Amino acid sequence: MTDKPGANIKTGKISVGDKSWSFPVYPGSIGPDVLDIGKFYAETGMFTFDPGFTSTAACESKITYIDGDEGVLLYRGVPIEQLAEHGDFLEACYLLLYGELPTATQKSDFDYRVNRHTMVHEQMSRFFQGFRRDAHPMAVMTGSVGALSAFYHDSTDISDPQQRMIASIRMIAKMPTLAAMAYKYSIGQPFVYPLNHLDYATNFLRMCFAVPAEEYKPNPVLARAMDRIFILHADHEQNASTSTVRLAGSTGANPFACVAAGIAALWGPAHGGANEAALKMLGEIGTVERVPEFVKRAKDKNSGFRLMGFGHRVYKNYDPRAKIMQKTAHEVLNELGHRDDPLLQVALELEKVALHDEYFIEKKLYPNVDFYSGITLKAMGFPTTMFTVLFALARAVGWIAQWKEMIEDPGQRIGRPRQLYTGAPRRDYVPISRRK
Ligand code: CMC
Repeated sequence: MTDKPGANIKTGKISVGDKSWSFPVYPGSIGPDVLDIGKFYAETGMFTFDPGFTSTAACESKITYIDGDEGVLLYRGVPIEQLAEHGDFLEACYLLLYGELPTATQKSDFDYRVNRHTMVHEQMSRFFQGFRRDAHPMAVMTGSVGALSAFYHDSTDISDPQQRMIASIRMIAKMPTLAAMAYKYSIGQPFVYPLNHLDYATNFLRMCFAVPAEEYKPNPVLARAMDRIFILHADHEQNASTSTVRLAGSTGANPFACVAAGIAALWGPAHGGANEAALKMLGEIGTVERVPEFVKRAKDKNSGFRLMGFGHRVYKNYDPRAKIMQKTAHEVLNELGHRDDPLLQVALELEKVALHDEYFIEKKLYPNVDFYSGITLKAMGFPTTMFTVLFALARAVGWIAQWKEMIEDPGQRIGRPRQLYTGAPRRDYVPISRRK
């Protein structure tokens, strides 16, 4: 811990029965203090128990801050709204990786470095042929990003800062190429090589939607929307996939392997898979008239149904990303002439009804980033199976920045949680002939 206080250290007391112990309390620059229970087991013989990590800070970090009650998201201190309005994705990447906004020279140098790494080894295309054609693109991404460690072995020595930085740049540069390849493969179209004079988002959209038989005309409104979606998803503190990357990285595994683990964790419907689930739900609702019926179902615990794209472990207020996403959805639908898209009408009505409903108010359930992203991405031409892939593409920078921060922390140790064991106590092995 870098800012560990000295003699004036605050302490917190924990009492169990008639015994009590003191532990140091460290302040954050903003946000809650933490009670350092690192010596808790050694001193008390007990573990602490927090299976969903609802009260546990698993690391110290200077990258991203969320105030869930106020609906605030900061990348290195900079509000997400300002970055989404004035910045671009590679600027956000620079900020997350290096801790400061780049100067004009630093920005153009960084853009150049990323652009120089957009191609993937040609043998990768043969690696792709090994996947079934109908494989989910997230399965393809998990496999192909993991395979990068086999293709780029020269940047897997994690003790070398130079290799760490090259691996980071490679990850940001190659994710769009791999994501577009996963898409093209799933629809049986030829892979489109990157074109490095294009900006990051335009390059990606072209790799997804260009075909050799026709000229591709970039649409700046859609490219700007894509870029903004990438900014919104770039990092989000210690969520499930990021924690997976950190845990995998704590063993010394290479960054490509760690990010592959993060992609696998992101795939679940409670995490990155929610945008796909939210769009599916809006389709099932179908018309504005059916909204109350679905809201009623979401409130019924026995129905097993939840409003997808609603609720968040940390945000107990409107997810600031959802506000920007809603605006982006309108811009994209206007540009494409889908202003009256029935899914958008259903989403707006659902949001209105839920925000006025006692159940959602009381439980502080607000739309999250995934609520409007599905409608937007669908209008842009992406199939639902690609939604989580786009999330993974954008989040790669967050994963890699968090991984780098962890590796560069001198106090870093392998992550190794403990457990409350409630299984059988010691018992003897019974030979199979004597078992009943
Ligand atoms: N619809 C209806 N009820 C809900 C919902 C919902 N979407 N979300 C939470 N609740 C209820 C839940 O039933 C529980 O009620 P009770 O206290 O009476 O048992 C209460 O709210 C708290 O829910 P929880 O599951 O204990 O909260 P959590 O922090 O463990 O879960 C969540 C957070 C995001 C998994 C959950 O809100 C959810 O399943 N939402 C739908 C899926 C979704 O949109 N996920 C995307 C998250 S944002 C993108 C990302 O970070 O990946």
